[in-house]
Amino acid sequence: MIYSDKDKKFKRYTITSALPYANGPVHIGHLAGVYVPADVYARYLRSAGEEVLFLGGSDEHGVPITIKARREGVTPQDIVDRYHNIIKDSFKELGISFDIYSRTSSPEHHETAAAYFKKLYEEGKFVEKTSMQYYDEEAHQFLADRYITGTCPHCGNEHAYGDQCEACGTSLNATDLINPKSALSGNPPVMKETKHWYLPLDQDEPWLREWILEQHKGDWKTNVYGQCKSWIDAGLQPRAVTRDLEWGVKVPIEGVDGKVLYVWFDAPIGYISFTKQLKGGDWEKWWKDGDTKLVHFIGKDNIVFHCIIFPAMLKAEGSYILPQNVPANEFLNLEGDKISTSRNWAVWLHEYLKEMPGKQDVLRYTLCSNAPETKDNDFTWKDFQLKNNSELVAILGNFVNRTLVLTHKFFEGKVPAAGAWSPVEEEAIKEMAAFPEKIGRAIETYRFREALAEMMNLARLGNKYLTDTEPWKLIKTDPARTATVLNLSLQICANLAILCEPFLPFTAEKMRKMLNLDIKGWREAGVADLLEAGHAIAKPELLFEQIDDATIEAQVNKLLETKRQNALNAWAPAAVKPTVAFDDFGKVDIRVGTVLECTKVPKADKLLQFKIEDGMGTRTIVSGIAKFYPEPEKLVGMQVCFIANFAPRKLKGVESQGMILSAEDKDGRLVLVTPSQLVTPGCNVG
Ligand code: MF3
Ligand code: ZN
Repeated sequence: MIYSDKDKKFKRYTITSALPYANGPVHIGHLAGVYVPADVYARYLRSAGEEVLFLGGSDEHGVPITIKARREGVTPQDIVDRYHNIIKDSFKELGISFDIYSRTSSPEHHETAAAYFKKLYEEGKFVEKTSMQYYDEEAHQFLADRYITGTCPHCGNEHAYGDQCEACGTSLNATDLINPKSALSGNPPVMKETKHWYLPLDQDEPWLREWILEQHKGDWKTNVYGQCKSWIDAGLQPRAVTRDLEWGVKVPIEGVDGKVLYVWFDAPIGYISFTKQLKGGDWEKWWKDGDTKLVHFIGKDNIVFHCIIFPAMLKAEGSYILPQNVPANEFLNLEGDKISTSRNWAVWLHEYLKEMPGKQDVLRYTLCSNAPETKDNDFTWKDFQLKNNSELVAILGNFVNRTLVLTHKFFEGKVPAAGAWSPVEEEAIKEMAAFPEKIGRAIETYRFREALAEMMNLARLGNKYLTDTEPWKLIKTDPARTATVLNLSLQICANLAILCEPFLPFTAEKMRKMLNLDIKGWREAGVADLLEAGHAIAKPELLFEQIDDATIEAQVNKLLETKRQNALNAWAPAAVKPTVAFDDFGKVDIRVGTVLECTKVPKADKLLQFKIEDGMGTRTIVSGIAKFYPEPEKLVGMQVCFIANFAPRKLKGVESQGMILSAEDKDGRLVLVTPSQLVTPGCNVG
C-alpha cells in the first residue's frame, strides 16, 4: 500500500463490487454498503498513480428473476434487460467509475463460467450426489432456492426461503424448512430424486481456517472475521453448485439437460469474465499474479460467498489469487426502518437522480459519511439536508467561494504572489501536509467515514484561516499580506480539489475548472505551491446550494405515501368479536331516520350536526365524519341508520341524542350506512 507500510507493496489492484441482481433498481442501501466505498477506493488508488481495475456488472441469473418474469408474463431476459439498463445508467450518472459494467447473461460470461465448471468437473473437484429434493407436481419442476418457502428452523420466520432466511440471515438448505410450500403453486411439495454436483467445502476447512482465522486476524473487519469464524467453527458442509432450472448457465456435461449452475457459482466468475471482456489477452495478471491485490466490496449478506465459497472455487481451480480483503459493510436503514424492495421502502437511485438533478455529490457525501461500516446505520432526509447545508455549503463551499471571490475582487483573478510566511501560515502549511497521508491511510484501511471527515477538516482549516486573517479587512491596511493570505487560501483550495475527488468527483471537477488546475494526483498534494503566482483562475460558481425545507418535505411525503400504501396492502378484516346472545343484540335499538339538516359544528373540525326526522319528531345527533363529507348540506334528504337508545351526551356544547352508523373502510374513511330503498322514518333495523 501507499501509506500503510506494514502491508506489502502491490503492483496493481483488482477491485470488485457485488453484482446487483437485475430484478430491481439500485437503492441507497446498495450504494452506502458497496458502491460508494468501492468507488472512493478505486478513485483514490488511481489518483495515487496505481494500476486499478474496478469491476461491476449485473447478476442476471437466479430464481427471483424468473419468479418476477412469470408474475409479469414476460421472459427473464426482458426483466434483466430492463433493470440492467436502469442500473447501469444510474451508476454512471452517480459517477461510479467502473472500468467495465457488464452482465452475466452475456455469451462471454456463459462461456467463461461453463469452462470454469468443466475444468473442475474434469479434474474431479466435485462430488456427485443423488438426493431427494422438493418437486412441484403441478408445475412439473424441482423447487430450488427461492421457489420454496417455509418456516425458518432457527428463528421461526414463516417466510424463509429454500436457500436463506432473511430474518436471521442463516443460510439454509430447502430441506431445513418447516412446512415447506412451493412458490409456484402454493402446494406442499413432494420429494423426487435428482443428481447434483457439490463443492466439498468440508475438505477446505483446514486451509480456510489457517488463511482467514490466522493470516487475516486483525486485518479483516471484525464483522467479516466473526461471520467466517462462526461458519468454520460450525463445520463446513458440501455445497451443491448446480440446480434443476432452465434460466442460467447450462451445466456443461454431456447428456445433462435441464440443469444450470447455481447462481452463486456463476455470478462471482462474472468478475473474471468481465476482466477478460475488457482486457482481452492481457487479463490474467489481474487474477493470477501474486503482486495483484484483490479486494471484494460487498454487503454483509454476501460474506460467506466471498470469503468461503468463492475462495474455495478459486483454490480448486488452482491458478488464481485469493482476496486480500473483503471489507463488507452492515446495512443502511431508511428513516428508522429496514430498506425493503418488496415494501418499496427505499430511496431508489434512478429516482433520486431525476428528482435532485445535479446533486450527485450530496448523495455520495451523505452516504459515505453514514456508511454502515461497523454497525447498521440510518439514512434520514433531515440529516441529508443538514449535511448539505451545514457541511457542504457552509464549510467546503463557503471556503472555496470566499477565496475565489476575493481573489477576483482584489487581484483580478490571478494568484497573488505570497510574501514571507508568518507563523500562522507555517502552522497551517504543516497541518495541511499531513492530510494526504491521513486520508489515504483511512481509505487504505477501509475507514471511509473517517477519511471523508478528514477531508472536511482540511476545508475547516481553510475556513478558520480566512476567518482569523480577515483578508476583506486586511486589504485596506496591508495589501501585501492580503496577497499572502489569498495565495495560501488558493493553495488549500487546490489541495482540496485533489483530496475531495474520490468522494466528490463532480465537485472536484468544478474546482479544477475554476482553479485552472492541471490534473494532479494524490502524491502531489500536501504542499503550498500547487498554483504559481500569476496563474489565472476562472470565475467562481457555487459548489453547493442550500436545500430548503420544501424539498425535504416532498421526499418525506413520498415515503409517508409508501407507508400508507403498505398499510392498505396489509389490511385484513378485524377478528370477529366473541359470540353474543341474540337478546343482547336486541337491546340495541337501531332505526332509520331522514336527514332534515346537516351542518358543521363550529370550532370542531371533525363533527357534523344532524337534525333527523325519526318518526316521532326530530332529534339532534352529532357524528365525527366531517372530514369525509366536506359538503354536509348535500346529505339533506338522505336516510341514515342510528342508535336510538343511547343516553344523550354533550359534544362541543351540542347535545347528541344517539349515534349514526357508518362503515370504516380500510383506508380509515368513514362511510354512512344507508338503506337500499326509501323506508318510513323511525322503522327498526334488525
Ligand atoms: N447478486 C448478489 C446480491 O445482490 C451479489 C452477487 S456478487 C457475485 O446479493 F459475486 F456473486 F457476483
Ligand atoms: Zn431465520
